[in-house]
Amino acid sequence: MRQVEWARELARKVLERHLPRRWEHSQGVGRRAESLAPILGKDAEILAASAWLHDIGYALELIDTGFHPIDGGRYLRDVHGADELLCRLVAHHTCAEIEAGQRGLLDILTGEFPKERGDLVEALTFCDMTTSPDGLPLTVMDRLAEIRSRYGPDDEVTWCINRAEPHILSAVRSVETRLALSDVRLDCLV
Ligand SMILES: [Fe+2]
Repeated sequence: MRQVEWARELARKVLERHLPRRWEHSQGVGRRAESLAPILGKDAEILAASAWLHDIGYALELIDTGFHPIDGGRYLRDVHGADELLCRLVAHHTCAEIEAGQRGLLDILTGEFPKERGDLVEALTFCDMTTSPDGLPLTVMDRLAEIRSRYGPDDEVTWCINRAEPHILSAVRSVETRLALSDVRLDCLV
């Protein structure tokens, strides 16, 4: 089975029943990633697989540290023996280092999942941050506003997203530039 088909099926199995909204979101992020294939070349498959699986660590039965990027990466590594780069992408998606630092988990994150392929981490962040919780395309500014209003001003996630914002915007701009240079059009950019 191709890696992306395996990822899609695993994400469906883990998320669909108990976390239907996360499953909707994951489908949108997965489709977004698949649409980046023209600019990713040989990396298209692993990026799409990581997008389908990026939020798998939210599943109740996977909770270990309570931080979903690490828990998802561990589950893929330990239970499924998944490709090392795939586990690292899941563990580092969308500025995970910032929230890991806030939660005292940065040494665990970087110790177990050294960050590499910043270009692919950026592409995954782009897909996550231009897809709504219901799996629809939206602008990065609307996505940031949506996260802030969902968690509220005093939540740790809002604090982290505020710190991550410049990095998220830079990732989105970088992918948008690559798309523009390749003449690829996606919905809801800017
Ligand atoms: Fe996500």
